[in-house]
Amino acid sequence: MFEVSQRLKKLPPYLFAEIDRKKKRLIAEGADIIDFGIGDPDLPTPNNIIEAMKKGVENPSFHRYPIGKGTANFRKAIADFYKKNYDAVLNPEEEIAVLIGSKEGLAHFPWAFLDAGDVSLVPEPCYPVYHIGTILAEGVPFFMPLKEENGFFPELGKIPKEILLKAKILFLNYPNNPTAAFAEKDCLTDAIRFCKKNDIILVYDAAYSEMYFEERPVSFLSLPGAKDVGIEFNSLSKTYNMTGWRAGWACGNRELVAALAKIKENIDSGTFEAIQFAGIEALTGSQENVRRLRNIYRERRDIFAVGLREAGFDVSVPKGTFYFWVKINGGSIEYANALLEKGRIVATPGIGFGPSGEGYLRFSLTLNSERIKESIGRIKKIWGKR
Ligand SMILES: Cc1ncc(COP(=O)(O)O)c(C=O)c1O
Repeated sequence: MFEVSQRLKKLPPYLFAEIDRKKKRLIAEGADIIDFGIGDPDLPTPNNIIEAMKKGVENPSFHRYPIGKGTANFRKAIADFYKKNYDAVLNPEEEIAVLIGSKEGLAHFPWAFLDAGDVSLVPEPCYPVYHIGTILAEGVPFFMPLKEENGFFPELGKIPKEILLKAKILFLNYPNNPTAAFAEKDCLTDAIRFCKKNDIILVYDAAYSEMYFEERPVSFLSLPGAKDVGIEFNSLSKTYNMTGWRAGWACGNRELVAALAKIKENIDSGTFEAIQFAGIEALTGSQENVRRLRNIYRERRDIFAVGLREAGFDVSVPKGTFYFWVKINGGSIEYANALLEKGRIVATPGIGFGPSGEGYLRFSLTLNSERIKESIGRIKKIWGKR
């Protein structure tokens, strides 16, 4: 037997083992499971990107170790994309580093700025890598509840003084996973001011920045002062159905970018240059597929919203992401279990994203409309008009 490190022991337990076991058993028995569990796009990467990748793979100069912070051309494409879409100005030389997906960068970032016992301010419910990355760097997460009545934005003014003194990083993520909330411009401006005042780094996770249905979400980096305190993480994953490719970037304050790049150059050797080459096509080529994707998710959202309302759920319709954060009146694990046993439907219990997620289920609409309609039929059979 090997003794794992204290660091590893400190990672929170996996809450869904029982649901996973049940799901696997039902699948083995031949059950027709409708799986809303995973936030992973079901549609393929657009063809123009695949064609670029084919070309890239055939280029022998891409077969060697990828250089430093990413290729100059991919970083320029990212800077141009930010200028065009968000009116945010980035210097590709100093203010952008290419990542192996944004998760990788988010997980490594605390290594660059936390010493043992330093605090990072983590919203909850949240994408788990913020506190996991903190714990792995021997930091201490301080959780800030996201409440519906506050638009799922943390109440920064309520953080105790003694915590603020030890806090080095504030994580924010909008459009948000799992709540699908968008941030108001004023809230982000306040957060920038708060970070400046308290000498805290703002880590902004914008993985869903292009997944909107009506208005484009406020861009953190377009706000005055953002680059003084912050770094934004984003990727090709959700916008271009490229989760498997592992290509993302960090951008913003050059000291923050440089420190992350230094950690990375000592751990990994970069992102395959053929992928970066295809990434240039993703960001600079036709965006028609992104528009089409938004229409597809919007249609799914509308079908699901109408269906859930007919089934008696009180739903607020998301403005973006492919998530639905559904309020239930009971324990989220019990509800998810019932949904699986009686309806053969998988949804993620909200409590898995943090204690304030209790009372919610997260549905990821990465299934086609027919399956979503089928799920509504099943939900109505279980709960009918509640
Ligand atoms: C909020 C959020 N941030 C970051 C990521 C990581 O995405 P990737 O590493 O594919 O860029 C995800 C993935 O689901 C996410 O939901």
